[in-house]
Amino acid sequence: MMSPFHISAIALISLILRLILTVHSYNSPLDELSKIRRRISHRTSTPEDSTLHVQPGSSFKVALFADLHFGEDAWTEWGPRQDVNSIKVMSTVLDEEQPDFVVYLGDVVTANNIPIQNSSLYWDQAISPTRDRGIPWASVFGNHDDMPFEWPMEWFSSTGIPPLHCPVNASCPGESEGGKGCSFKGTTRLELMMNELKMNNLSYSKFGPKDLWPSVSNYVLKLSSTDDPESVVAYMYFLDSGGGSYPEVISNAQAEWFNRTSQEINPNSRVPEIIFWHIPNQAYKTVAPRFYAHRNCIGSMFVEKVSAQEAETGMMKLLEGRSSVKAVFVGHNHGLDWCCPYKNMWLCYARHSGYGGYGNWPRGARILEITQQPFSLKSWIRMEDGYVHSEVLLSSSTRKE
Ligand SMILES: *[C@@H]1O[C@H](CO)[C@@H](O)[C@H](O)[C@H]1NC(C)=O
Ligand SMILES: *[C@@H]1O[C@H](CO)[C@@H](O)[C@H](O)[C@H]1NC(C)=O
Ligand SMILES: *[C@@H]1O[C@H](CO)[C@@H](O)[C@H](O)[C@H]1NC(C)=O
Ligand SMILES: *[C@@H]1O[C@H](CO)[C@@H](O)[C@H](O)[C@H]1NC(C)=O
Ligand SMILES: [Zn+2]
Repeated sequence: MMSPFHISAIALISLILRLILTVHSYNSPLDELSKIRRRISHRTSTPEDSTLHVQPGSSFKVALFADLHFGEDAWTEWGPRQDVNSIKVMSTVLDEEQPDFVVYLGDVVTANNIPIQNSSLYWDQAISPTRDRGIPWASVFGNHDDMPFEWPMEWFSSTGIPPLHCPVNASCPGESEGGKGCSFKGTTRLELMMNELKMNNLSYSKFGPKDLWPSVSNYVLKLSSTDDPESVVAYMYFLDSGGGSYPEVISNAQAEWFNRTSQEINPNSRVPEIIFWHIPNQAYKTVAPRFYAHRNCIGSMFVEKVSAQEAETGMMKLLEGRSSVKAVFVGHNHGLDWCCPYKNMWLCYARHSGYGGYGNWPRGARILEITQQPFSLKSWIRMEDGYVHSEVLLSSSTRKE
């Protein structure tokens, strides 16, 4: 039994710790959310302090689910069927790899194809295989997640508007009062994020600093060893690469935020850094294999051109200036799954994981394995049928370019 003095001392210390951590976490949660978070923050390990833990001597495994594109063509048979298939892909990967963490790498839903007011219903379905297994995760936005509905032209021909099969408890056009049901403005990034966080105590996603809006999913997570929380194994940066309701770009404000944050929490570049966002940037074009010459690239799909962000505003320059940056991971191009060396780092695609979205290439997920002392970052692709390929060591020195 602990004396009351011990208990209040512990309470005081944990309060002080929490205050310090709050100052250091860059999220600016909405009021409603911070209330919810406060309610769950007394539980053991929560996403509150943005820290993930790895046991000493063991590795930390991350699965990347890219471009799931839930919610397409809900009025047909094949739309809902492909979401069921995407759930199967994720379930297979999760059961075979048993990851410690999952990253939803954008285009979780195809909002421009969702004729209901609330895309969070589909977002939630996409998250469910991970949540059901008790695995924590984080998400970033892609260009499809907050798009407004695009009315199909054929609905205005003789076929007319088909009867819509909406998910349980979603309001379909005409069902709700005041005609509100027929205006599908899309679900904003803030609403999507708010709903993800409100319903999920395993989500490590964040709103990001308010001054970076309309860009939302900008935050950093710390991976620490359980035996020594002071020794950080890696920092994982999540950035919103835009698209949908605003241009496909990582803004100058985001670059400055990264500059400030990385210099503050990792001033000597001692701790390795891993970067996640949805849309590849221009540097991907410079390393993309051409004419079947794959150079030092490792992957299995080289069948598309890189669709890069619209502009560079300085983010890449910052990454190039930090020896601690090991790799960048993106989705967006469903027909590419390579990793290529670029200056001090690797530029990697994930693997198209969803049955939604363009392309019928077999589905899979990129897996990352982080080990500590010494640090290593290994990756491979796990396919839906269990096949594993394209293994690559991303922590190896790549200074070549
Ligand atoms: C949208 O859906 C989510 C998930 O089902 C739910 O939590 C949220 O309350 C809904 N929001 C609105 C405005 O209906
Ligand atoms: C749908 O709404 C009803 C009544 O509001 C509720 O009882 C039920 O649990 C809801 N179902 C789902 C799947 O959210
Ligand atoms: C998280 O929420 C689920 C219900 O969604 C609940 O069963 C579980 O106990 C919660 N876990 C923690 C650590 O609070
Ligand atoms: C990054 O921060 C340093 C100072 O901490 C500053 O000298 C440099 O100009 C900044 N770079 C950019 C691109 O903002
Ligand atoms: Zn996509």
